[in-house]
Amino acid sequence: MTDFEGLKALVTGGASGIGRATAELLAERGAQVAVLDLDPSCVEKPLLGFRADVTDDTSVRAAVAGAAEALGGLDVLVNNAGIGAQGTVEDNDDDEWRRVFDVNVLGMVRTARAALPHLRRSAHAAIVNTCSIAATAGLPQRALYSATKGAVHSLTLAMAADHIREGVRVNCVNPGTADTPWIGRLLDRASDPAAERAALEARQPAGRLVSAAEVAGAIAYLASPLSGATTGTSLAVDGGMQGLRLRPVGQ
Ligand SMILES: NC(=O)c1ccc[n+]([C@@H]2O[C@H](COP(=O)([O-])OP(=O)(O)OC[C@H]3O[C@@H](n4cnc5c(N)ncnc54)[C@H](O)[C@@H]3O)[C@@H](O)[C@H]2O)c1
Repeated sequence: MTDFEGLKALVTGGASGIGRATAELLAERGAQVAVLDLDPSCVEKPLLGFRADVTDDTSVRAAVAGAAEALGGLDVLVNNAGIGAQGTVEDNDDDEWRRVFDVNVLGMVRTARAALPHLRRSAHAAIVNTCSIAATAGLPQRALYSATKGAVHSLTLAMAADHIREGVRVNCVNPGTADTPWIGRLLDRASDPAAERAALEARQPAGRLVSAAEVAGAIAYLASPLSGATTGTSLAVDGGMQGLRLRPVGQ
């Protein structure tokens, strides 16, 4: 498919996991793609890597400007960089709350703010934010992380309203637990990684984790001119975790 032919895309957090799969898929479908990441050293041609920290406005502005200049404009922004946090409201101090909000929410604000002047010049402008099932379902031990993703969900709707008349669509994807290096790190820290993985798989009605490629496919759909009438939506990519209520097997 070449629905992205002639389009220019920037993917944050594009050096790993969902972001990496997305950058590669957009390039396969004809886009010219730049990656913004804390560590873009693994990014290979035809992708262009830009080093930036989404918590640092100066570095974000420099990377977005550099990407727009190298690509000759920007049509698509995938706001995907994010970090996790575990625990209840009792388990993280104020500094940790500020740090995770700074990456997961303000990070998207900074990249969007820097990219919008370029996106407004595009005939097919789209922003896709990586949100989470944690925005729409109460998951245990994820108070801080869920609060950031709830904010991303609301931010997506507000931005969609603000920018629709400028021709910029804004949507988000809500992945369930996705099999990325992030989850690998989480499992490594568990006392029984195999049992933890089995519990995460069982939590999703499909009985398995979501793949990074499946989330990338959903992001690509929302970023593509093929979804030109779709804005202000969240697309669940969660093996049925949000919407389905199955009976136990055999009942
Ligand atoms: N893996 C899951 O189960 C899952 C589920 C739902 C949502 N998500 C969301 O998907 C997104 C990507 O997650 P992933 O699983 O691919 O993680 P990952 O850890 O594999 O990749 C995250 C990337 O973001 C980059 N990054 C982190 N902080 C950054 C910063 N301050 N500035 C620039 N880059 C930064 C990292 O360097 C890394 O390349 C995140 O927003 C996450 O919240 C993940």
